[in-house]
Amino acid sequence: MKWKIRQEADADIDAITDIVNRAFAGKAYAGGDEADILNGLRDGGGLVLSLVAVLKGNIIGQVALSPAKIGTQRYLCVGPLSVTPQHQGQGVGSALMGHALGVAQSLHRDGIVLAGDANYYARFGFEKAASVTHPGKLADHILVLPFTGAPAGGVTFHPAFNE
Ligand SMILES: CC(C)(COP(=O)(O)OP(=O)(O)OC[C@H]1O[C@@H](n2cnc3c(N)ncnc32)[C@H](O)[C@@H]1OP(=O)(O)O)[C@@H](O)C(=O)NCCC(=O)NCCS
Repeated sequence: MKWKIRQEADADIDAITDIVNRAFAGKAYAGGDEADILNGLRDGGGLVLSLVAVLKGNIIGQVALSPAKIGTQRYLCVGPLSVTPQHQGQGVGSALMGHALGVAQSLHRDGIVLAGDANYYARFGFEKAASVTHPGKLADHILVLPFTGAPAGGVTFHPAFNE
């Protein structure tokens, strides 16, 4: 049986929190606050989209979109993105990203921005952009996928990211 992807429901929230914590546990790059960020986005009205992957009634992955800016351009931020350790490497993360990118394109923003590992996100078309700046510790990890033209300026994420 293959997983299905759908929007989150209120009843999923505890399971989503658990998945984010398990996926990021022990990762050198994890801040340990990824679940708090997601809950902060939800509570702060910053969740443009929250998708879950469901296998046999169990949530095995999640991805979120939130509003962001690069300069005055209207971007979306993708993340957190998590898949439970036992289901990684089976295409769940790619499928969640594919859905999220499709929705993002339909929302007529200027593009997508995230803070993450270029080795992973390059496969979806994300790249570094010298004209995009960030004042915080994430500066070296900012990746963009522009829809409308070259992005330029400082990145602003939703306050839930506690930059
Ligand atoms: C990153 C993550 C979401 C990918 O989910 P997934 O379901 O395993 O992804 P897929 O099965 O679609 O793709 C797996 C591919 O990604 C690669 N990959 C996974 N993490 C990677 C990383 N940090 N750097 C480079 N490649 C990575 C795997 O090597 C594999 O490559 P292949 O397709 O060439 O074999 C999942 O590993 C995860 O939850 N990791 C912990 C949390 C995290 O790092 N989230 C992303 C940062 S916000």
